[in-house]
Amino acid sequence: SAVQGRPPRGLDFTPVEVNTKDEVVVPAGYRQGVVIRWGDPLFPGVPEFDFEDQTAEKQAKQFGFNCDFAAILPLDPLGLSGIMVTNHEYTSESFMFRGYSSANPTEEQVRIAWAAHGLSVFMVKRSMFSGHYRPRFSRYNRRITLHTPFEVRGPAAGSDLLKTSVDPAGKTVLGTINNCAGGVTPWGTILSGEENFNQYFANAAGRNDPRLTRYGVTGTATTRKWERFDKRWDLAQEPNEVNRFGWVVEIDPHDPDSTPVKHTHLGRFKHETANVRIADDGRVVAYSGDDERFEYIYKFISNGKVKRGNSKAARRHNMTLLDDGTLYVARFTGDSPASEIDGTGKLPSDGKFDGSGEWIPLAAGKKSFVPGMTAEEVYVFTRLAADKVGATKMDRPEDIETHPRTGTVYCALSNNVERGNAGKEGATEPNPRVQNRHGQVLELVERRGDALALTFGWNLFLVCGDPKDPNTYFGGYDKSKVSPISSPDNVAFDRHGNLWISTDSGGALNGLNDGLYGVPLEGRERGHLKLFLTVPRGAETCGPVIGERVVTVCVQHPGEVDGASADNPVSNWPDGGTAQPRPSVVAVWREGRRQLGEIG
Ligand code: FEO
Ligand code: CA
Ligand code: CA
Ligand code: CA
Repeated sequence: SAVQGRPPRGLDFTPVEVNTKDEVVVPAGYRQGVVIRWGDPLFPGVPEFDFEDQTAEKQAKQFGFNCDFAAILPLDPLGLSGIMVTNHEYTSESFMFRGYSSANPTEEQVRIAWAAHGLSVFMVKRSMFSGHYRPRFSRYNRRITLHTPFEVRGPAAGSDLLKTSVDPAGKTVLGTINNCAGGVTPWGTILSGEENFNQYFANAAGRNDPRLTRYGVTGTATTRKWERFDKRWDLAQEPNEVNRFGWVVEIDPHDPDSTPVKHTHLGRFKHETANVRIADDGRVVAYSGDDERFEYIYKFISNGKVKRGNSKAARRHNMTLLDDGTLYVARFTGDSPASEIDGTGKLPSDGKFDGSGEWIPLAAGKKSFVPGMTAEEVYVFTRLAADKVGATKMDRPEDIETHPRTGTVYCALSNNVERGNAGKEGATEPNPRVQNRHGQVLELVERRGDALALTFGWNLFLVCGDPKDPNTYFGGYDKSKVSPISSPDNVAFDRHGNLWISTDSGGALNGLNDGLYGVPLEGRERGHLKLFLTVPRGAETCGPVIGERVVTVCVQHPGEVDGASADNPVSNWPDGGTAQPRPSVVAVWREGRRQLGEIG
């Protein structure tokens, strides 16, 4: 604005208005194109997607469903080509099949769902004059599904808790599931979090096992009924299969023949993501949040040091770093009197939600720091371990990532509509609102900026919602000039140091569509949040990749609103007309007369 000066570099666009349109809305002067859609072929000879004639065989060679995380690993200095990697978090069968019966899915429908989970790896290319990345067939292209073998590594590999009838060694798992967000490691591999794995496992009811209930593994039949077609989804027949999900996985997209890894040292919970930073001495630190109401934030510190360079040998070495170290969980302490945290979001008298914190050790290698639990138990039942050491219950920790220049760690705390409810914890300084529908964004500064530190300072940078609500906070910026935001989910940074945030609100803010926002973190413009794009109705915005000239986002579950289905679609995005909605990746770029302008 004129009052507060020029727009900061990277964010010079007119914010889009909040809306309920069935389209992707971008600022004036920007263009967009669909990169890839559910069902698009990733290999030569695979037929074009036909919603009315889908098969498991085709799906295993097509882009999967409900893309969430995305990364582009550049293959040239200009970013004209790259390897794109996306997660396929989950399947929504009633949107994938006409006349779908949740009581009686067919075996082929179930097999399609297995093939639609996992990840897609494929080459993308664009021209100098357009930001429209398009998929290419290449030697990198790969689908990871529920049948791809993963090597289990770290101290819980081979544990009795991970052994099953088909894997008596407890070291090989078929597939990855419910992969939500992820991260690009400094060595060019991809980390991906296995999030809500509990929903896939049947017949927990009656077992009275706190190791199941603490993870929400409950009930008899599952929603998708997979247990009818493979006994591994049936706890009565295969009690340990559930322990083989809920991990951080790592894949090497540069090597399509490589075996992906499950890293047990990072603990087992509903991992939203994992992101790695390198400490001054070369050891690596990984942060990960457990995305459920009242769950925790974790940190892992490696013993080994990173090997520089892009060689395959360096990647092989660096892919072992997350298998040996120490796992910690966060405890946050507020610095304002508890009486000033009244649950509304009203700032305490010191003007900030802030304080200090510590990283509490849980286990290192075979050594447990948790009374009454072995190290193996700490890794496999990490939530129970964190409960015992008094970690701080947070409002759904989603993405967590380190600012590449300042070292400040940003965590999206999505929302928590149950905070303050009967029998639940009330407001705390880091989670200052009861029935918190809109979430907050946390800044965490490790002591002296040292990634290896075991204490930290923290503050809430954003207390999200409608800026007209007096109990919201936008880094101290003038709230009459910021965009409304609810339920921050993924975070990213641009090369100018701005923070970008994508949201998954489910319409919590007046039924408005979700979007992608940019916000400066420093100087007089700190907190000037601007809405860059919105996604079609029913969709969440995720997987933002903020390039110099192209932004890509995943549009997950377009058209998924109450009462809608393939028999009653409310979205026709992206194909238009009367087409069924398809989860897709979208690229956005700035028009330029001769070549692409920089984003913002
Ligand atoms: Fe899958 Fe935490 O969002
Ligand atoms: Ca305070
Ligand atoms: Ca997410
Ligand atoms: Ca989400």
